[in-house]
Amino acid sequence: MTASNRIVLSSDHAAIQLRQAIAAHVVAQGWVAVDIGPTTPESTPYPRHGEAAARLVASGDCRLGIILCGTGQGIMMAANKVKGIRCGVCADTFSARMIRQHNDANMLSIGVRVVGEGLALDIVDAFLAAEFEGGRHATRVEMIGALEG
Ligand code: RB5
Repeated sequence: MTASNRIVLSSDHAAIQLRQAIAAHVVAQGWVAVDIGPTTPESTPYPRHGEAAARLVASGDCRLGIILCGTGQGIMMAANKVKGIRCGVCADTFSARMIRQHNDANMLSIGVRVVGEGLALDIVDAFLAAEFEGGRHATRVEMIGALEG
């Protein structure tokens, strides 16, 4: 199985609608969206969903991940606890591009209470279009990995 065109999507209850809009958006671009929910509006803890998405990226099942909660912060913190995950919260397209180019981010987090749908889709596009530049940045990313122990 190849992970090359698979993106896992997950969120807590706050961001179901935006997550589903992002899933449809990336599918229209030719990605396979592995949307692991949730699909019902009951309150559900963001660490559970951040971890579940992160494990699919860390295992190699999915190339990238997009996760969402109210702020994007809590679910990002949970995802970054999984070894091999580099996830940034973005509320602008510049940051979304740079976390790929310089930090080799393999996950993107967005806060549904921070950005509207139009900007969120632009952030996703900036993240997916960018490539890691390597070079001096590779050394720094290796240093991040070394902190995982
Ligand atoms: C849930 O109300 C909220 O705390 C969550 O979506 C997120 O913002 C946490 O970081």
